Amino acid sequence: KKEASSLVLQFIQNTMASGQMSRDEALECTSCRHACHVMLYSETASQLFGRIPIRYIVLMQMRFDGLLGFPGGFVDPSEETLEEGLTRELLEELGVAVPISTEDHVESCFSLPCSGKYSSSSRLILHFYVKKIEEDQIREIEKAAASTAADHGLEVLGMVRVPLYTTKSGGGLSSFLSHSFIGVARSQLINSLLRLHLVSPGALREALRGSQRKHA
Ligand code: GTP
Ligand code: MN
Ligand code: MN
Ligand code: MN
Ligand code: MN
Ligand code: MN
Repeated sequence: KKEASSLVLQFIQNTMASGQMSRDEALECTSCRHACHVMLYSETASQLFGRIPIRYIVLMQMRFDGLLGFPGGFVDPSEETLEEGLTRELLEELGVAVPISTEDHVESCFSLPCSGKYSSSSRLILHFYVKKIEEDQIREIEKAAASTAADHGLEVLGMVRVPLYTTKSGGGLSSFLSHSFIGVARSQLINSLLRLHLVSPGALREALRGSQRKHA
C-alpha cells in the first residue's frame, strides 16, 4: 500500500512539472495567451455488464486532431473572465453552457512548446478546472454535444467517458491511458482521478503499468 502511494506521489511531482502558478499570478501576464479546460464528472450507480460498478462518469472528448482532451479552449481575459470564457467554450463544444466558477479552479501552468521558438509573445498559460455535476447533466451534455453543439463534427468529434475500472484481461483505464492526449491532459486526468479518489493509488499504478506495456 505504502509503495503504491509513494510511486503515485513521485508521478505527480514529475508530471506537474515546473511553471505552476496561481490563477491571479497567471492573469498578471498580459502578454500571455490563456486557455481553460475542465474535467466534468458525476457519480453513477450503473454497472457494466450488470456487475462491474462504474462509480463515476468522467467526460473527455475526441478532438479534431485525433487527440483526447478536456472540453474548453482559448480565453481572452481582456474580454471576459477565465470562467466566463470557459463556460462560453463549453456552450460551443458541448451545446450546454455549464457554469464554471473560480471555486472549480485547480491549477494554472505554462505550456511550453515541445520544440524551439520559445518566446514570451507565444507563451500560453493553461488553466485547469474540475466540476462535479449530476448524472442527468452528463447525459444532457452527451446528447447536446452530439446534436446541437456548434462545434460537433468540427473542433469536437465526440464526447467520451473514461473507463475507470480494470477488466479481467487488463483493459479499461490502462487501455484508455495508452491513447494519445493533447498537452498535459493525460497528467491532468491522472492527477484528478487520484486527488478526488475516483481511482485508488494501487489500481492506478496497475493501469499505468499496463498502459506502458501497450505503448511499447
Ligand atoms: P477556440 O478555437 O477559441 O475555440 O479554442 P479551441 O477550443 O480550439 O482551443 P483548444 O481546446 O484546442 O485549447 C487551446 C490549447 O490548449 C491547445 O492548443 C492545447 O495546446 C491546449 N489544450 C487543449 N486541450 C487541453 C487539455 O485538455 N489540457 C491541457 N492542459 N491543454 C489543452
Ligand atoms: Mn477546445
Ligand atoms: Mn473551442
Ligand atoms: Mn476562441
Ligand atoms: Mn471557440
Ligand atoms: Mn480552435
